[in-house]
Amino acid sequence: MVDYTLLEEVIRGLNIDLSWEYAAITQYIQHAASLHGAQYFAVIEEIEKHIEEEKNHAITISNMIQYLGGVPTIEVA
Ligand SMILES: [Fe+2]
Repeated sequence: MVDYTLLEEVIRGLNIDLSWEYAAITQYIQHAASLHGAQYFAVIEEIEKHIEEEKNHAITISNMIQYLGGVPTIEVA
């Protein structure tokens, strides 16, 4: 027997995590775009790696939510 209350709680928690992944992506993009000058090229490159990592986290969490029968949020924390 499936405990739907627990399942819904897990999906709800994953959606909260997903909304924070979106927030991290947004913040990293804004931070990278705020840096100007050649002295920041390495920093921007590093930030862009983190954007990719956060995107992959968001995709993984979205797939988990979908697998559990939920709908991934589009809300940004
Ligand atoms: Fe993340």
